[in-house]
Amino acid sequence: MARRIVRSTRSSHPARRLTRHAAKNRRDWNRTADLYERAHGPGLAEHQGMSWGCFHVPEKDLGLLRDTRGKDVLELGCGAARWSIALARGGAHVVGVDLSPRRLVQARTLAREAGVSLTLVEASAESVPLPDQSFDLVFCDFGAMTFADPFRTVPEAARLLRPGGQLVFNTWSPIHTVYLDVRNERVASRPQRDYFRMHRVEWSKSVEFQLPYGAWIQLFLDNGFELERLVELPAPAHLRSSYMSAREARWGRTLPLEAIWSLRRRSASRAPKRRARPGRS
Ligand SMILES: C[S@@+](CC[C@H](N)C(=O)[O-])C[C@H]1O[C@@H](n2cnc3c(N)ncnc32)[C@H](O)[C@@H]1O
Repeated sequence: MARRIVRSTRSSHPARRLTRHAAKNRRDWNRTADLYERAHGPGLAEHQGMSWGCFHVPEKDLGLLRDTRGKDVLELGCGAARWSIALARGGAHVVGVDLSPRRLVQARTLAREAGVSLTLVEASAESVPLPDQSFDLVFCDFGAMTFADPFRTVPEAARLLRPGGQLVFNTWSPIHTVYLDVRNERVASRPQRDYFRMHRVEWSKSVEFQLPYGAWIQLFLDNGFELERLVELPAPAHLRSSYMSAREARWGRTLPLEAIWSLRRRSASRAPKRRARPGRS
């Protein structure tokens, strides 16, 4: 098979300056990229790289993505790009965006080994240097939709999608975030924060984001999305996770660890709008 190209683009436009939390996350992902790959790469490679979340639930069991053959696809926070590589192999035209140069080196290596064509862009999902309405699918699995401010990423996804296009992303469930004990890096048995005021979740070396369910849904509606599915799975007892302790997996059997949101960009002409953020980020 002829070796195909891995195109790379680097964003240098001054307007693409990173937010403070994105710069902090970029440093953290550059620092931890190799460790992360060693710990989680083998699990992420299962199911041809097409699985969701901490337990790698196969996409073929959930059927969240429409047919992507021949479609324009954007992965927001692609990491080593296993998902992007799998979709490109299936005939999609895929762009992977990530703000960490080290993670993009990993993506480039895996894409080259797989012999697939990908475009990789070093940028933040909060301000993607690509034209409006370029994609049929924008997605990620614990990618930028976990680490970037949804009040920036949801309008960006709306801008980048064509009418009728799909936004699918997996992140922590709001219930999990309520119980998340950041200091001890585990779920606690009691709530750790005010559900109604959830937005920025500060770790010592990184930042994540979360909203209450109602605020997520309002943000989607305000940006021209319709909710198609919200998948909350009990942690599967038969699957192992390199991310979760046995105690957390037990917790996840009765309360949702993760939430996979599937949305459709409405065809109506209403322009996407940014809503005021409840807090600073
Ligand atoms: C947990 S990894 C997910 C990637 C892939 N699904 C995996 O599991 O390896 C999170 C990725 O999001 C990227 N990321 C974090 N914040 C981002 C942002 N604002 N814009 C683009 N990528 C971001 C990180 O660099 C990292 O590669």
